Amino acid sequence: MSARPGMNKARILITAGPTRERIDPVRYISNYSTGTFGYEMAKEARRRGHRVTLVSGPTALAEPKGVRVIGVESAQEMYRAVMRELGSADFVIMAAAVADWRPRKMAQKKSKKGSRRTLELVENIDILRAVGKHKDGRVVVGFALETDNLEKNAIMKLRQKGADIIVANRITKSAAVFGDRMTDILMIDRYGGRQHLRHRTKRELAKNILDKVFGFNYS
Ligand code: CTP
Repeated sequence: MSARPGMNKARILITAGPTRERIDPVRYISNYSTGTFGYEMAKEARRRGHRVTLVSGPTALAEPKGVRVIGVESAQEMYRAVMRELGSADFVIMAAAVADWRPRKMAQKKSKKGSRRTLELVENIDILRAVGKHKDGRVVVGFALETDNLEKNAIMKLRQKGADIIVANRITKSAAVFGDRMTDILMIDRYGGRQHLRHRTKRELAKNILDKVFGFNYS
């Protein structure tokens, strides 16, 4: 790794969107993520002149101009793409809503009505945790989506996954955190620094997060 925080042209690896875990050729497990946050981060990083690679699950969003986009579907594909790109990244921002589980087996043919009602799931690999183990001086940012105990769970994720900064989002019953609405976040760094940012658009928050990332004192 050659870069240091604050440099002008950094190489930034960002994950975004949901993953889809196939059940059979026509069905999958996923979540409500739209990818907006990750895409806003990618656009803002690009506006600042950085070299951005965006590893994205399926979204309806347009590819941001000037950003290298690697499209993936499942958590396993996302994991492989991230590990392949990690060596040429100075900063890693993991905004994807990775599905925690996948079906143990994908059926080769469409399952017919009445054929099966139970789905056996296995846990997907935690991509952020894997990145946290291979940091090599990179600044690593994770996200945390919580319905309860926002701060406590976010700090736990920061520590367990080896991130430098965690961006925590509270999710309510309406799933309002997904998409384009105003959002509140709590940013926590591994030195205990914390910052509440309230009622901002994801574009504004992307700027705030990048300011924090580039101001991060890596020691
Ligand atoms: N993440 C990941 N790989 C996974 C699951 C999560 O890289 N298999 C990353 C997300 O991109 C995010 C962070 O870990 O940056 C936290 O994701 P979140 O869904 O909030 O947490 P989980 O670890 O999945 O924990 P839980 O669902 O139990 O709250």
